[in-house]
Amino acid sequence: MEQNNRTILCFSPTGGCRTIALAIRNDSDSFINFTLPQSRVNLPSFSQSSEVVFVIPVYNRSVPDICAQYIKKLNGKNAGASVICVYGGVTKGNALKTAAKLLQRSNFNVKKGAYIAAPHFYSKTKLNNLSAERLERIRAFLNGDFSGRIISLSKNAHSASAVSVQPLMKALTGKCTVNPSACTACGQCLNNCPADAINSDFKADGNCILCGACVNACPQHARSIKFFSPLPYLFIKANCKHRDDEFFEFASVSASVKSRMLDH
Ligand SMILES: Cc1cc2nc3c(=O)[nH]c(=O)nc-3n(C[C@H](O)[C@H](O)[C@H](O)COP(=O)(O)O)c2cc1C
Repeated sequence: MEQNNRTILCFSPTGGCRTIALAIRNDSDSFINFTLPQSRVNLPSFSQSSEVVFVIPVYNRSVPDICAQYIKKLNGKNAGASVICVYGGVTKGNALKTAAKLLQRSNFNVKKGAYIAAPHFYSKTKLNNLSAERLERIRAFLNGDFSGRIISLSKNAHSASAVSVQPLMKALTGKCTVNPSACTACGQCLNNCPADAINSDFKADGNCILCGACVNACPQHARSIKFFSPLPYLFIKANCKHRDDEFFEFASVSASVKSRMLDH
């Protein structure tokens, strides 16, 4: 069953979410890529008959702060919403539930969610790119074929955290650097930065989220993310694995679903 009036929204600094968003897109779907700052200025409007699918990455076991801020500004007007959380096969934390809670607060009627493991920018363990079969499974799930678990979105369930750990994690992880002798000042880093963090001297400032978009965009390979210690890399290396895709339906706690509910 194809949805009418469906909008796919993605945030994708290094392209993984964008690949999935484009693969699940039907011809009649609208597509919004809100990765760059200028794409977050004009907000889309929704109605009760709208269906939206968010495809967003997992950052530090949660929703990237930029995505959380963007979702908070939207008014879903009771549009149906699904969330695909794309992660690097390391840890997914509570990203899906946090995203669902944020969407609920912005007046979306949150219905479904999935965790999909995709290649991690920081990892030398290269997870398989998404096969046609995996993408077909995601499409089928969004279009009505539900065979997943049920997640509670009851009031007592884990709520979207008010305080983000991302600035702290970033401070502990590393920094984005540029090799001045290789930089040709082409500006691709600046044009592709989701956080408006590249200054006129092409150095990253405090807004940098270590997403790797500028590293990918630099034609001279002049940019890199330098870890402050081997710990983040060792953690990722030890935990980055091929993971099964997981599919969920969101539900408020009720007697009928309690028996089926597997709160994670
Ligand atoms: C700052 C940052 C934090 C991340 N945190 C996690 C994490 O907690 N767990 C995980 O499995 N992957 C993590 N990842 C990997 C991303 O979720 C994964 O690479 C995703 O595919 C990125 O989406 P994109 O390619 O659309 O930008 C992180 C990546 C970045 C850049």
